[in-house]
Amino acid sequence: MPNRFIVGNWKMHKTISQAETLIQDILAMYQPHPSVELAVAPPYVALQAVSQLLTNTSIKLAAQNVYAKNEGAFTGEISPAMLKELGCHYVIIGHSERRHLFRESDHIINEKLHAALHHGLQPIFCIGECLEEREAGQTHSVIQHQLQTGLAGLETQDLHNITIAYEPVWAIGTGQAATVEQATEVHAAIRSSLVTHWNMDSTQIRILYGGSVTPENAQALFQSPHINGALVGKACLNSESFVKIAKLAISG
Ligand code: 13P
Repeated sequence: MPNRFIVGNWKMHKTISQAETLIQDILAMYQPHPSVELAVAPPYVALQAVSQLLTNTSIKLAAQNVYAKNEGAFTGEISPAMLKELGCHYVIIGHSERRHLFRESDHIINEKLHAALHHGLQPIFCIGECLEEREAGQTHSVIQHQLQTGLAGLETQDLHNITIAYEPVWAIGTGQAATVEQATEVHAAIRSSLVTHWNMDSTQIRILYGGSVTPENAQALFQSPHINGALVGKACLNSESFVKIAKLAISG
């Protein structure tokens, strides 16, 4: 498992043709390195086109969301099996936009994590506190609660297939990233919680930082031993800045 992992979350950006152009530009510029794994999460409708262009490349495909059921009368939803067939390797679960704009509860997120793992999709499980929670000194209790409820019922071996993304809500899309010290402190707490409560080997845990990551601040973040990579929003919509961030992640 490469020790660095960079994921581009395209959110609700790029039509199918724009997605094709973006991934072709990334592929033309990106030089794979064994220490870094790269994944992109286009919108659902562009997954097939991007999947085809990623065939026989080292870049992995991720979905931005999934529903927890196999099939049925769930209008507008997409199942884990559908994503698998499209070539998705990863799926983002519990993103703060899903939690806040679409009212996804910890319970729903827990069901999605179980369903994704059951179908062989590797979740990128997002957690993070809001500004008011940080200002009230509740960051650690919020993070612990999201971990305990989100990961409820999962075994240590399941956890080996999960990447955690710490995305403080106040840093997402604001241009104000967490400082290296702020991110490191929370990442260290997440790591020790996974070791204590899930008996994990700390070297097997990948924890990404997300929230206003740019080519300008990525290098400093990646110098922290607790930060294994980044979940990138705005800066992944431009091939140059995304590839630059991936390059800065090369280690050893
Ligand atoms: P920005 O990089 O645009 O702040 O978005 C971060 C994010 O939400 C990635 O999932």
